[in-house]
Amino acid sequence: MATWDLSRTKHHVLICNGSSCMRKGGEEVTQAIRAEISRLQADDEIHTSRTRCNGRCEDACVVIVYPEGVWYKHMTEENASLLVQQHLIAGDPVHHLISHQYGGERFVRTEETSKGIMRSTKKK
Ligand code: FES
Repeated sequence: MATWDLSRTKHHVLICNGSSCMRKGGEEVTQAIRAEISRLQADDEIHTSRTRCNGRCEDACVVIVYPEGVWYKHMTEENASLLVQQHLIAGDPVHHLISHQYGGERFVRTEETSKGIMRSTKKK
């Protein structure tokens, strides 16, 4: 149990630990992101949370960065340090790993990202 002081937090990183992401290395991605943040002594500026499924299992492993609203897909242990160094430290999102990004009114999907299904059309 912990109650962190978030007054210096610049980024909140949601790391999907749902079942699909965990089958594709979600634990290793979580550990690699957290280790790189600690190595760079950025723990006070970058807060991470494990989540359950974020509804984009085809993109596993999914990592989401706020306040920018950038959704990353196909995260691996190997590209975790790139995400931390380039986006979270240098402020330059890693474009080839982005699936969706908040565009002012809604989230915009990149060209290579699968469309998925609208929740409103799902059979109940
Ligand atoms: S388990 Fe990660 S998006 Fe579904």
